[in-house]
Amino acid sequence: MGVYVVTGAASGIGAAVADRLRLDGHTVIGVDLHDADVIADLSTGVGRRTAIGEVLKACGGRLDGAVFAAGLGPGKGRERMIVEVNVLGATELLDAFRPALAAADGAKVVVFGSNSTTSTPLVPRRAIRRLMAGDVDPAVRQIRRRVGVSGPVAYAASKVAVSLWCRERAVRKDWAGAGIRLNVIAPGPVMTPLLQSQLDSSTGSQVRSFPVPARQYGTPEQLADWVLMMLSPSADFLVGSVIVIDGGTEALLRTRDWPRPLPLRAIPRMLWAMYRAPRDGQVAQY
Ligand code: NAI
Repeated sequence: MGVYVVTGAASGIGAAVADRLRLDGHTVIGVDLHDADVIADLSTGVGRRTAIGEVLKACGGRLDGAVFAAGLGPGKGRERMIVEVNVLGATELLDAFRPALAAADGAKVVVFGSNSTTSTPLVPRRAIRRLMAGDVDPAVRQIRRRVGVSGPVAYAASKVAVSLWCRERAVRKDWAGAGIRLNVIAPGPVMTPLLQSQLDSSTGSQVRSFPVPARQYGTPEQLADWVLMMLSPSADFLVGSVIVIDGGTEALLRTRDWPRPLPLRAIPRMLWAMYRAPRDGQVAQY
């Protein structure tokens, strides 16, 4: 049985994941603002450092897996909190947990993105780059320039940044090469307190009219099933993937955007990777 850290373990999808892991006999170190083993506010540097210290103490320097489900939904006037929790609440903790994950045999990490990454317009690319570098102030300034839509833009920017950050890390020697499998799950609307608060808000009618071809919202239990699969040996061959589970919204809105052939600009990278591949029949590591 393994030791897993789950952020956002007090509610919604994180709670469903923590319940399933405990039911299967694993030890769960839950992190949240309340009702958790580690109480920490991931929207502050102090809170993130507390979470890191407490989790590393509780796990004894070895983690079989981690699930980053703590998150804040779109909300006007809280752009900074959204990006701190949704980006730094995963990236800073992941960097600190990497040695403990590498100490386990085949650790798995699942980070929550969102299908808002591919369905929200006006997200400034520069803000995404800043967030990936952990540079929050200029990113928030750029996001706030999207007057009237800065809440949804902050949310989408945070989820794009954390997803790309994971894809960059996932393939590296110190992650994939150390046996860690780092992947992202990108849900559409899932019936949790987060979604309910949006349905109850002044933008509730827009949320309701958002197209979902499956004509139903997801449930936390369905998402927990996917996460459990991504934490299992079935995910040994899953690296840097973004698994979209959204009732078909992405397929509807972005039908022909993906898959697409390799663009010319990616060819040097491919040639470099092929050049570095071992000649002795071993599988290459990058
Ligand atoms: P939820 O609101 O039910 O649970 C989120 C948890 O994060 C809560 O327990 C909350 O206390 C915790 N949290 C929030 N701010 C925190 C902070 N500063 N420090 C520590 N913990 C904090 O939300 P839900 O729906 O279960 O969301 C889980 C993840 O899935 C989030 O990352 C969310 O962005 C993502 N997601 C959810 C969707 C949905 O429709 N429910 C859709 C797409 C993505």
